[in-house]
Amino acid sequence: MSVFFLKSVLSLFMILMTFIAMFTMFEVFGRTEKKYNIEKLKKIHRANGIIYLLLFLVIAYFCLEFILKTKAEPSARATFHGVFALTVIVLLFFKVLFVEIYRQFYGKVQTIGILTAFISFLMIGTSGGYYLLITKFGADTKTGKITEQKKEVVQEGVRIAARTDPGSIAKGKELYESKCYFCHDAYSNKTEVGPGHKGILKNPLLPVSKKPATPENVANQIRNPFRDMPAFKYLSDDEIHNIIAFLNTL
Ligand code: HEC
Repeated sequence: MSVFFLKSVLSLFMILMTFIAMFTMFEVFGRTEKKYNIEKLKKIHRANGIIYLLLFLVIAYFCLEFILKTKAEPSARATFHGVFALTVIVLLFFKVLFVEIYRQFYGKVQTIGILTAFISFLMIGTSGGYYLLITKFGADTKTGKITEQKKEVVQEGVRIAARTDPGSIAKGKELYESKCYFCHDAYSNKTEVGPGHKGILKNPLLPVSKKPATPENVANQIRNPFRDMPAFKYLSDDEIHNIIAFLNTL
């Protein structure tokens, strides 16, 4: 299971908790005649908030690990997601301060709560929601057919032979495992976040852009991705050649 899928499923729980938080506080502050036991609602709200925070931290850990390992430049969507997440955590911090210590600001707590709920939806929508949508809730999407015949790599007069020595392949595999495995399955055509890479250089066409499956186009995908993949501009030519050497074995 990909970390993205796990993270997205956890984020569904966060949506549920956002609703619980809203419901409990609307019942406490929103009605003139109370329907439920106020103390109980407050307790539920508090426990719910703590679990929300724990989930937030677990997911943030996945995200930071991803950023540290891949050093990928975030897409516009990922940037929004990060900004929303930071906003949520800062708002929650203020809210706890105002409830627990600086009680003179207590009047602001309701507004902060509503803002936190609103931004939680934006935060989850721009990441987990998006991911579950494009992968049809984690179900497989087959991409491209594998043809067994090995292609000659010729494009626009430039011919780049993929490296075949075991050293380059091993280095490429290592790089692949730290930069690419978050989103790609090397050994199948299952789509995780991006398409699976089995036979990526043996097929006639790349799975998403449908450009010819050449080392040049793969190198180009790594530096200037076709659509939603982060760019790995910092990888050297040598590193990219090694990654291609590994992809060529799949
Ligand atoms: C954050 C997720 C993510 C990471 C990390 C990632 N990719 Fe991708 N990749 C994608 C997505 C999404 C696509 C679909 C096409 C697009 O949006 O550019 C894709 C598509 C591709 C394609 C097919 C492009 C085409 O033209 O059809 C190749 C090849 C590829 N990635 C290679 C890599 C390699 C090599 C790495 C590691 C250096 C990597 N990817 C890391 C998400 C990712």
